[in-house]
Amino acid sequence: MDRVQIFDTTLRDGEQSPGATMNVEEKLAIARQLEHLGVDVIEAGFAASSEGDFDAVRRVAEMVSRPIVLSLARTREQDVDRAIRAVEHAKRPGIHIFIATSDIHLKHKLMMSRAEVIDAAVWAISRAKRYLDYVEFSAEDASRSDPDYLVQVFTAAIEAGARTINVPDTTGYALPEEYGALFRSLRERVPGADRVIWSAHCHNDLGMAVANSLAAVQNGVRQVECTVNGIGERAGNTSMEEVVMAIKTRADRIGVDTGIVTEQIYPTSRLLAQITGIPIPINKPIVGDNAFAHEAGIHQDGVLKNRLNYEIMRPESVGLDSNRLVLGKHSGRHAFVARLRELGLELGDIDMNRTFERFKALADAKKNVYDEDLIALVARESVRGDVRDRYELVYLNVTSSSMAVPHATVKLRIDGEEMLGHATGDGMVDACYRAIGDLTGQHPELQRYAVKAITGGTDAQGEVTCLLREDGYTVTGQGSHTDIIQASALAYVNALNKLEYRRQHRQRLQTEAEVGP
Ligand code: KIV
Ligand code: ZN
Repeated sequence: MDRVQIFDTTLRDGEQSPGATMNVEEKLAIARQLEHLGVDVIEAGFAASSEGDFDAVRRVAEMVSRPIVLSLARTREQDVDRAIRAVEHAKRPGIHIFIATSDIHLKHKLMMSRAEVIDAAVWAISRAKRYLDYVEFSAEDASRSDPDYLVQVFTAAIEAGARTINVPDTTGYALPEEYGALFRSLRERVPGADRVIWSAHCHNDLGMAVANSLAAVQNGVRQVECTVNGIGERAGNTSMEEVVMAIKTRADRIGVDTGIVTEQIYPTSRLLAQITGIPIPINKPIVGDNAFAHEAGIHQDGVLKNRLNYEIMRPESVGLDSNRLVLGKHSGRHAFVARLRELGLELGDIDMNRTFERFKALADAKKNVYDEDLIALVARESVRGDVRDRYELVYLNVTSSSMAVPHATVKLRIDGEEMLGHATGDGMVDACYRAIGDLTGQHPELQRYAVKAITGGTDAQGEVTCLLREDGYTVTGQGSHTDIIQASALAYVNALNKLEYRRQHRQRLQTEAEVGP
């Protein structure tokens, strides 16, 4: 069977989702999991867009071994050079150069002629080729561009040395039949078309990103660009889990394969949701809570008689184990580690002693520890890396009744020193956040606060996500605990640590720039 490459752009286009900003440690945790998942290409960021992005691409490039690691770049000298610098230590480095080709973009955004756009593309590809071999070229807004002009642009790009040609449906405007036909015609008309990989990059504005990507594959495309959980600009990008499982489940018609270890889909999806705080809709195909739940009696009866009656995929094939009750407070370290391995979780960089301690605390607080709890536990540990948290929650006491104003007493360890604070508030969470704010002297804007039960039952772990904003920069904090107020405090402290980490990181980069290499 022919192989379709999976190009993951969660860390670049995905990060462009409102509220999906990730710090370097979080990006590294995602990249580690993407490698484990078996993606072929990781677009790690847009190196020229900020120091933070440059640093993230550089760190991902140094860490990852098997996939190609790319940075996005416009056709400008500074972009190309920054992108190449960022991936220079990658085992398999690459660059992704793009420029718009639709008349709308040429006239109203770039203010360039068609000839100037071709010159710019050729110049940038040729410059990149002096330093590395793997160049992908994208014609932004290709699906709304003149197909005759696209033939000229791609002919020139291939002559200049592009190895992959990407034809984005940037605005999510195309219909599947139309998008497939565009590839068919380009592959027939562009000289040298058989020397390159053709790539599809779709946005989901009309809910057709996955259908369009599949139509492209059926017309000879051998790379699909996608994001975990379909996050991305506006309505998002092609959802990795949906396109991969469609290719696998309907191999009879589509006739291609991917290198994705599908059992890693669920842990990857949960990790991303935990890190970004972007919830997964319960009815989302493949990874939503209801994706494999059969509710109607007639369906349950059918599934019990034979799963084939209503199931086109096995939950196990995406990493969801039907035997979900796993561990409890009597489980030992051996059983704990064995279960993590069975779940295929990436354990390479996590501190196993600390993770096991946290598991024990969790098992004390709730009777049954489910796979979802374990995935959340490992996700939390995997983003810690070598980051030292400035703030740590030591103790929390919150009182509230219908007759009294909620009152919180909070003890934090700040730079190793314990400090106690008190506050009242509009509710228990508010009182708690005020006390933490007074102790730390940090009062960022709270943009979003959400609570979700990780597992069922009244002893379920609650997962709290909060979004804090400071100086135009947003961070997401997560906390999970069987006590919602405790989970809220942990999420807030987690977000404050990220803001603090960012402040220190910015200062370090500034000092490095002042002192010089
Ligand atoms: O949607 C788009 O056109 C893009 C390009 C930069 C590839 O993301
Ligand atoms: Zn895009």
